[in-house]
Amino acid sequence: MRDVVEVAEAFRGFFGDQDRRPRLFFAPGRVNLIGDHIDYSGGLVLPMAIDRGTLLVARQRRDTTIRARSLDRPGEVIADLGDTRFDPAHDWFSYVIGVAHTLATDGYALDAGFDLLFAGDIPDGAGLSSSASLELVTAVAFNTFAGFGLAATDLAEVGQRTENDYIGVSCGIMDQLAVARGRRGHAMLMDCDDMTVSYVPFPHDRVTLIIANSNHRRSLADSAYNDRRQAVESAAELLGTTRLVDLPLTELQGGKRHLNEQEFRRARHTITEQARVIEAAGALRSGDLERLGTLMRESHESLRDDFDVTGPHLDALAAAAWAQPGVVGARMTGAGFGGCAVVLARRGAEAEVVEGIERDYLARMGTAATCFVVGSDDGARELADEEAEA
Ligand code: GLA
Repeated sequence: MRDVVEVAEAFRGFFGDQDRRPRLFFAPGRVNLIGDHIDYSGGLVLPMAIDRGTLLVARQRRDTTIRARSLDRPGEVIADLGDTRFDPAHDWFSYVIGVAHTLATDGYALDAGFDLLFAGDIPDGAGLSSSASLELVTAVAFNTFAGFGLAATDLAEVGQRTENDYIGVSCGIMDQLAVARGRRGHAMLMDCDDMTVSYVPFPHDRVTLIIANSNHRRSLADSAYNDRRQAVESAAELLGTTRLVDLPLTELQGGKRHLNEQEFRRARHTITEQARVIEAAGALRSGDLERLGTLMRESHESLRDDFDVTGPHLDALAAAAWAQPGVVGARMTGAGFGGCAVVLARRGAEAEVVEGIERDYLARMGTAATCFVVGSDDGARELADEEAEA
């Protein structure tokens, strides 16, 4: 999390002091331990909220203007609550005004505007859910100020619909739900069909979570993502199932003639990934980290060979991680097409692992990857004074 005092001071510098007190909100990013590209099929996934994310200082206004700034980008964006239509010129601010738009569509119209200052510490476009973090920090702030009384899961859905209907990315619910309902010290076994979450203690005493960023930004990710989803949906339809994740592999084999080669591979990933998630959650619960590591590797290979979303950068990053003796498991995380890998390193071996991955990746690709250690965190929330001062 960015330095709260610094961000609060910057807010005063931009928007001035007033009788109304600004309030502070934080939404984490997320890393997915295993279970990619199956949330939109209603599968089980195993993400975790991380201790980096988006900080927001917000103050309600007496008019209906939303004035927003980000410490990470130049300039100021202004909109009026009377006109929340999508405008490509709004860039990152679309996620903010989009949340107000979605809330209003649901009957929760804001009647007062805001001064908003955002400050993040997750790289964008890196597969760590910077957009869900931005949506959820905004949704929690609006919900709190306006007293709508919406629960965390409702806010996650507001975030997802903003992304689907306003931004135009057909994402599933995993990112928004992980960001909304994370719990420190735990991974979340999340059922993306009914949105129930069971929290699985994460063995922070045995392993450290490292994010390895290829620094290769996802390109054409939105259209490629939507294509993948379409292929999976068409495979499910051709196989006559609404629950592709639960289809036995033998039935996929039996129905192979109905599918083209690509649909077949997309469906095979969907089915095998679900099985790996279930086994991985069991391995995490029983402390079998070696098994977890093997499943993470198999997941990466399936995303590479059957789902075609890893690409040379993530493949090199995963290979660099697998080559380190202190690594328990590693795989790409999130949508793919560039971005980050998640690495579980044995406690005490972090420095060696980071150095080894960075050296090995540089040798393989000729460009630098950046590794950083992350912890787990709670979901999107208003920061209580103690947390804000910590
Ligand atoms: C993106 C989407 C999620 C999910 C992942 C892949 O992060 O937002 O809904 O589909 O990709 O697992």
